[in-house]
Amino acid sequence: MPLCRNIASSPSPLIAPTTPDEAGIARAAKALKAGQLVAFPTETVYGLGGDATSDTAVAAIFKAKGRPRFNPLIVHVADKEAAETLVDFDECARKLAEAFWPGALTLVLPRRNDCPVSLLASAGLHSLALRVPAHGVALDLLAEFARPVAAPSANPSGTISPTTASHVAASLGDAVALILDGGPCAIGLESTVIGLTGDAPLLLRPGGVTAEKVEAVTGPLDHPETGSDAAPSSPGRLLQHYAPARPLRLNAEDIIPGEALLSFGPHAITGAAAECNLSPGGDLTEAAANLFAMLRELDRPVHKAIAVMAVPETGLGLAINDRLRRATNPVATPQEPTP
Ligand code: TXA
Ligand code: MG
Repeated sequence: MPLCRNIASSPSPLIAPTTPDEAGIARAAKALKAGQLVAFPTETVYGLGGDATSDTAVAAIFKAKGRPRFNPLIVHVADKEAAETLVDFDECARKLAEAFWPGALTLVLPRRNDCPVSLLASAGLHSLALRVPAHGVALDLLAEFARPVAAPSANPSGTISPTTASHVAASLGDAVALILDGGPCAIGLESTVIGLTGDAPLLLRPGGVTAEKVEAVTGPLDHPETGSDAAPSSPGRLLQHYAPARPLRLNAEDIIPGEALLSFGPHAITGAAAECNLSPGGDLTEAAANLFAMLRELDRPVHKAIAVMAVPETGLGLAINDRLRRATNPVATPQEPTP
């Protein structure tokens, strides 16, 4: 008795999956080095990977997923030693990494000052989510590429996470240089995300490793619903978001004396104390890549405020404007489940 009946055959994929042998892994690592995106299997779900140290590659990930928001991404590394070059580990993080890596557990830790990972991957935050996947193909790719790989689940925003190469081919085939085929994912559910930047470990997203197993190592986990920084009336998980210390003035068409200017495209605004242009040519992917680094650049005590030119409400402009609006109102906001 078949489990499914009358299922229409899926449209032919735009891209044939690649066998993850030595040549396939070498091609994938080369594509990542060239700033392209590569889909690869992990034990949880397939990831849409890009060079985590490249603002442009990370912006391309958001563009491919069509996410209306910049949520921070999980960055994949080959081992704990690689992770320790990017973030500050405390005793709890060390114990969790030893117990569960490689595996379906993601740790959110403070970025080191010299962390080379794109600020866009952290959505401008001072923290970074890291995990070591337990999958031979993912580990081979990380070893060959020898750099951290940012990878959300390889599905368009709003659709379910892919657990086979053909799922990815059918939905994101035109966004990736290649898809490494590692067969179906063993877990089929995303990793558990634990926040380690506050006083107590926080369960940010339930996933492949149960909360009970994590608690056997850490002791009781804080849940965002009951944690000290959660609004009691807010049922959802909370995600801190980046905001500059200086006020932002959106849709600026001129400069008030003392303001710095975050511009977009060609313009005739004069008189700014300092200026960064998100994209002189008006390209939204370039603008997304520059957004958080430029906001930080302009966020200096000598500037009274940051005037921000209008950014079009299309494509990645939606996510850019969402972040700009949130940055004018620096409180934690409900975190929608990442699709
Ligand atoms: O299983 C997985 O985790 C898959 C595979 C491909 O590894 N990846 C995945 O990545 O689901 P992504 O980027 O879709 O999930 C990111 C999750 C979100 O819930 C996000 O809010 C949280 O991690 N996250 C990432 N960085 C964070 C940060 N700095 N602070 C708080 N939460 C963070
Ligand atoms: Mg996802």
